[in-house]
Amino acid sequence: MREKAARHKRYPDRESPVARTGESGRPEVRDGLSHERLRLQSRVWEPAGERLLARLGDGRGLRALDVGCGAMGWLRVLSRWVGAQGAVTGTDVDEKLLAAAEAFVSEENLANVHVQRDDFFASALPAASFDLVHLRFQLAPLGRAMEQVGIARRLVRPGGWLVLEDPETGSWRENPVSPAAACLRQLIGTAFVRAGGDLDAGRRLPEYLRAVAIEPAVNAECLALEPGHPYLRLPIQFATSLRPRLLPLIQEAELDRLLAAAEADLADPTRWGMAYTLVQAWGRVAE
Ligand SMILES: C[S@@+](CC[C@H](N)C(=O)[O-])C[C@H]1O[C@@H](n2cnc3c(N)ncnc32)[C@H](O)[C@@H]1O
Repeated sequence: MREKAARHKRYPDRESPVARTGESGRPEVRDGLSHERLRLQSRVWEPAGERLLARLGDGRGLRALDVGCGAMGWLRVLSRWVGAQGAVTGTDVDEKLLAAAEAFVSEENLANVHVQRDDFFASALPAASFDLVHLRFQLAPLGRAMEQVGIARRLVRPGGWLVLEDPETGSWRENPVSPAAACLRQLIGTAFVRAGGDLDAGRRLPEYLRAVAIEPAVNAECLALEPGHPYLRLPIQFATSLRPRLLPLIQEAELDRLLAAAEADLADPTRWGMAYTLVQAWGRVAE
């Protein structure tokens, strides 16, 4: 018990188990789940973002855009990179996530960041108006990858940067593997494809940049997740929030059994794991 309490303290973002039951008696996606998942995701990948920006050089005074920033995205890393003289815009279409992002900006006193509603596929942002445009986890869930990269490319000023980050799932597992979590990962991947996305979109990022005449640099980041790390529960979190998309693929009772079995497996105090690999690809738009 004490060990578990200590772990919770170390990882304050840990979501309470999603197997909270609703009126139906079945697990339900509760309000705020995606805020928490997106914040956790942003926090675990923040050092990778900082490393990438350090490779680009001095960002002070620049204008940067984080497309689909969700509840946090790259807002804090970009805020630090551009400094007090720079400006960061975060956009999204989801009002609840925008409100969460605004709350985050205010909690963190990110005075150089502003958040606004913008549907990226019909963006009202002016062309060539940013020194850096960043998209993370936008191609994987939303698909229409070439269309997204083309829109993003138009928003970058000549000589500016386009930065893409998406997953590659080869490394995503626990040790020892949880058979239930492995089944959930497979179902999640299939659901992404059926919805027009690709959970392995990271593999194709350099190709997408070349297609819009940007010579790509590429990097891959992976994370070791010690026992009890909240990001180990990603298969459970994803499967819960994607539940309606999984039900055409699996009987509901079997899905519930997998969720409960994965939860029990991940409670093993010695089970560690690795996240999916985060592929980062970036390059400059020609002057
Ligand atoms: C998987 S989340 C990634 C969030 C964030 N980029 C991050 O890395 O934490 C995808 C985000 O894209 C947003 N989104 C979906 N469709 C969009 C659109 N048409 N225009 C702008 N944002 C969109 C969602 O609301 C969500 O916040």
